[in-house]
Amino acid sequence: MKDENLWKLEVDNNQICWLTFDTPKKSVNVLSERALHELDTLLEDLLINTPKGVIFQSAKKTGFILGADINEFKSIDNFDDIYEATISGQSIMNKIEALKCPTVALLNGFTLGGGLELAIACDYRVSIDSHNKCIGFPEIKLGLLPGFGGYVRSIKKIGAISALELMLSGRFISSKDAFKLGLVDSLTEPNNLKKIAVDIVLLKPKINTSKWYLKILNYNPFRMLIYLNIKNRILKKIKASQYPAPLSILKLWKNHGVIKKTAHKESAKEFCRLYLTSTSRNLIRVFQLSNKLKGLGSKESSINTCHVIGGGTMGADIASWSALKGIQTSIQDRDIKFIQPGLIRADKLFEKKLKNKSDIKKAQNRLITDLEGEKISSADIIIEAISEDLKIKQSLFKKLEEQCSESTILATNTSSIKIEDIASVMKNPERLVGIHFFNPVHRLPLVEVVKGEKTSDEVVKAAISFVSQIGKLPLPCNSSPGFVVNRILAPYMNQALICYMDGHMPETIDKAAKDFGMPTGPIELADRVGLDIALHVVEVFGVKPPDILKTKVIAGDLGAKTGKGFYKFINNRPKKSKQFPKPSKDLSDRLIYSLLNESMSCLSDGIVDDTDLIDAAVIFGTGFAPFTGGPLNYAKSIGFESIINKLNSLEKSFGSNFHPSEGWGKLIT
Ligand code: NAI
Repeated sequence: MKDENLWKLEVDNNQICWLTFDTPKKSVNVLSERALHELDTLLEDLLINTPKGVIFQSAKKTGFILGADINEFKSIDNFDDIYEATISGQSIMNKIEALKCPTVALLNGFTLGGGLELAIACDYRVSIDSHNKCIGFPEIKLGLLPGFGGYVRSIKKIGAISALELMLSGRFISSKDAFKLGLVDSLTEPNNLKKIAVDIVLLKPKINTSKWYLKILNYNPFRMLIYLNIKNRILKKIKASQYPAPLSILKLWKNHGVIKKTAHKESAKEFCRLYLTSTSRNLIRVFQLSNKLKGLGSKESSINTCHVIGGGTMGADIASWSALKGIQTSIQDRDIKFIQPGLIRADKLFEKKLKNKSDIKKAQNRLITDLEGEKISSADIIIEAISEDLKIKQSLFKKLEEQCSESTILATNTSSIKIEDIASVMKNPERLVGIHFFNPVHRLPLVEVVKGEKTSDEVVKAAISFVSQIGKLPLPCNSSPGFVVNRILAPYMNQALICYMDGHMPETIDKAAKDFGMPTGPIELADRVGLDIALHVVEVFGVKPPDILKTKVIAGDLGAKTGKGFYKFINNRPKKSKQFPKPSKDLSDRLIYSLLNESMSCLSDGIVDDTDLIDAAVIFGTGFAPFTGGPLNYAKSIGFESIINKLNSLEKSFGSNFHPSEGWGKLIT
C-alpha cells in the first residue's frame, strides 16, 4: 500500500497554493527526511509553475512544526552525510525564499527549530494571538545550532542581539513577544488565520526586515564589541569544553556576520562539527530520556480530584502544582495557620505561570482548604505529606483506608520511610504507593514513583499516569532507603563533608564539583537542603556522618534557613570567599566517584530497571552534568575497567567508602 503524502497541495479560487503538513498517525509534525524530500519535490514544481502565492499550514492542532526528527539523527554518524543532509535542508529553505510569489506561514501553536527556520524562510508569518510560549530555537539544548539557514535569516529579520539571545538561550517565546520582535508579522484569532493569510498574498504588504540601527550591528566595530560582551557572559556560566555550541554560534556571527554566501555554508559546517561532539550526542540522549519518562504514563489518566494531607513545605506546594495543572485540589492540615504560608506561595506560583487574570482566578478556585477532610471520600488521589514519623503516618493511612473510596489512589510523599513499613498496618497494603516529589516542587521535574513490596502494579501505573498528567517526569523505582536520588546524593555529600574534615575549604570543594559540571557544589547543596535533613538522610543509610554535621546541627546552624551553615547566608545567598586553593584532581575524583559508585550500586540492587532510568534520575533529580549524558553513560565513556581501577586506588588512599560496587564487574562482558 502506498504511503500517504505528508504534504497536501491544494489550489484555491485565487490561484493561491496551500501546502498543508499532516504527518499521518502523529499528533505533531516534525521535519523528517521524508517530509523534507516531499517538500523539495513540490517546491521544484512551484518554482516553475508559480502560483499567486504559497501558504504553508499545519493540519495538527498542536501547532505548526516541532523541528527536525531527532530520532533520525542517530542513524547519521559521519561528517559528509550530515553535511549533505544539512545543505539539502538549506537548499529547501532557499527554494522557499526564491519563490517569485508571496509566501506565508500560518503559525497555529508550536513552531520550533527547523519549523521556525521554515517559517522565517517565508516572506510573512501570521500567528494565533497567544501568551503561550511556543516559538523558539531549542537547538542549543541539544548542543546544536539552527542548521537550515535560520541562523542568518533570524539575525536579518530581528537583529543580531535578539536573534542571538533566542538561539543562545533556546528559550521559547509567545506569539505576542515574537510579534514585538518582528519575528511574526500579524496576530489574530484562530478562525481568522486563513483569511489574513489570503489578504496578505493579495495585498503584498512591505516585507519586514530589521531596523537600520540593528543592521549596522552586523558590521565592525559593533560586531566585535557585542561578540566580546556576549562571550564573557557565556564563559561565566559554562565551560566551552563541556558545552561548545554557544561559542560556536557566536564565533560564526563574529567571523561571517550575515553574508549570505559564506554564513549559510559555514553554519552548515559548524552544525556538523557540533553534531559529532559527545556533548551533542549526550544532550540528545538527555532529551530522549525525558521523552522516555514522559511516555511511561498512560495518556488516559483522568484524575479530577486530589486531596493533600499536610500543608507544610511539600504538601502545600504539591497541592498548588496539582491545582495549576487543572485538578480540583484540597489541602488538609491540623490548623489553617500551617496552610496559610503555602496559600501565599500558591498565589505567587499561579501569577508567575499563568499570565491571564481569569486563568489565575480559575486556578485559585481549584485550590481549597479542607481542615475536616470532607473531600477524602470523593478524592481520586490522596497524597500524604505530613511529618516524617512512621507511627503518625501509619495511623493516618489506617484511617484513610476506611474513609476513602475503593478506587482512590493512596500515596505518601515520605522521603526516607519504606513504603511497606507504612503499609504494614493497612488492610490492603497493595493500595499504598510512594509519590516522592522534590523540593522546590515547582522547579524540579522529577517525581519518584515508589513501589512497596506489596504495592499492586495497577496502583503503580495509576500513580505514574498521575505524575505525567501534572507535567512531571515519573521515575518508577522500588522501595529502599533514600529511593534513587537521595540514595545517590548521600555518599557524594558525605564525601564532601569528609573532604571538609580533611582540611579543604568549602569553596574549594564546591568549585571541584562545579568544574565537573554540577549545578551546585555539595557543601552549598547541604546548606540549602538543611543540615538537619542532610544528617537525617545520611543516618538513614547507616553511615556514620562526619562529626562536623552533628556539631552544626546541635549549634542550630542548619544552613540557608537559619542564615548560617558551612557558609553564612545573606539574602538567601552564600557568602563565599574569593580566595581559596584551587581544587586538585583527587578532590574532584573523590566527589564524582562517590556518586558514580552509588549509581551503579543502585542499579545492581535492582532499585530501578535499567541504566537509562538511573541516568534520568540523576540528571533530572540532581542536575548532574547533562553534557555527560548521566553518571552511568559517563562511566561507560571512560570504560568500566578504568572506573574499577580508579575506585580501587581511591579506596587505598581514602578508605572503604570507595570499594567498587559489584555491578561494575557485571557490565564488563
Ligand atoms: P513540614 O513540617 O513542612 O509539613 C508537615 C505538615 O504536616 C505540617 O504543616 C503539619 O502541621 C502537618 N501535619 C502533621 N501531622 C498531621 C496530621 N496528622 N494531619 C494533618 N496534617 C498534619 O514537612 P515537609 O518538609 O513538608 O515534609 C512532609 C513530608 O514530605 C515528609 O514525609 C518529608 O519526608 C517529605 N519530603 C520532604 C521534602 C523536603 O525537602 N522538605 C522533600 C521530599 C519529601
